Amino acid sequence: KGCKLVGCGSATPTLKVSNDDLAKVVDTSDEWISVRTGIRNRRVLSGKDSLTALAVEASRKALEMAQVDPDDVDLVLMCTSTPEDLFGSAPQIQKALGCKRNPLAYDITAACSGFVLGLVSAACHIRGGGFQNVLVIGADALSRYVDWTDRGTCILFGDAAGAVLVQACDSEEDGLFGFDLHSDGDGQRHLNASIKENEADNALGSNGSVLGFPPRRSSYSCIQMNGKEVFRFAARCVPQSIESALGKAGLHGSSIDWLLLHQANQRIIDAVAARLQVPPERVISNLANYGNTSAASIPLALDEAVRSGKVKAGHTIAAAGFGAGLTWGSAIIRW
Ligand code: ACO
Repeated sequence: KGCKLVGCGSATPTLKVSNDDLAKVVDTSDEWISVRTGIRNRRVLSGKDSLTALAVEASRKALEMAQVDPDDVDLVLMCTSTPEDLFGSAPQIQKALGCKRNPLAYDITAACSGFVLGLVSAACHIRGGGFQNVLVIGADALSRYVDWTDRGTCILFGDAAGAVLVQACDSEEDGLFGFDLHSDGDGQRHLNASIKENEADNALGSNGSVLGFPPRRSSYSCIQMNGKEVFRFAARCVPQSIESALGKAGLHGSSIDWLLLHQANQRIIDAVAARLQVPPERVISNLANYGNTSAASIPLALDEAVRSGKVKAGHTIAAAGFGAGLTWGSAIIRW
């Protein structure tokens, strides 16, 4: 059985934060940020904005493009590391979309690789589980976990949501040609937002003595990152992964129409493209406008490229995600 991508959509918060805005809160400059990263603006959730609402908006657009009724969606995969419910937010999205036939809905946590993992999971569910219409959403709000006094990280991230609809089809129409997925827990020390015990809250009233143990309350620390190590990891592992996925698909760098990497840093994108010998005009990048939107970056950039007419029906795309975990992976897809 095959699976094909039949619709995409995206949504971003309205609040735009420029490099000059950030220079008012930390010791940085537009020049430093744009030269080192390629980022000029990012969108940030504010006020009553919700990530779940962005994910719903992106999903609605994808369903509209695919001309698929929400009732016909039988699986919702929400790829996020920043859910608005610790237990997962996919069922809330299912409810808001009005998928009344009670599809399965669950979250996938794999930071900036989440969307590629979601795409491959969708294909496995279709090929092995009989699912027909799988909504794969990548959405993150890392602004909630950034230390806004740390100039090394707060300049990088933005919030967004993107979605694609993956549909079962005959094998001749198959749109996922090959993939390659990895993780390495040893690299977690270079990039994490780990659990933090709140000491002030730990002796919850007198319950500690009643129960005989101190109940604990936790939250998550802000994003900690060794930028140089993450850069080295991406520049080394991402081209290898794409080459492996291309090999499984019987393709090579020169046979793809588009290279679509997780939008983390323009220098990483350029280094990977050079290594794969993909010319700049075949590289998709919208990082300047949105920064690093984690699991949302690939479907957001794909949606813009499709709607602007850049990516056309039948085009082959090498997509790759990489980030915290560490996790990384590639998928060769046909639009
Ligand atoms: N403005 C001005 N100066 C800065 C800033 C800033 N925003 N940030 C750091 N600096 C300074 C540092 O303090 C340092 O100063 P020093 O030389 O006086 O000590 C100098 O600039 C160099 O700092 P480095 O951290 O070494 O800068 P580097 O060239 O490595 O660039 C960057 C930093 C842009 C973060 C780069 O390492 C990078 O992009 N790494 C990859 C990050 C990434 O892709 N992360 C993905 C995470 S995805 C996920 O899963 C969440």
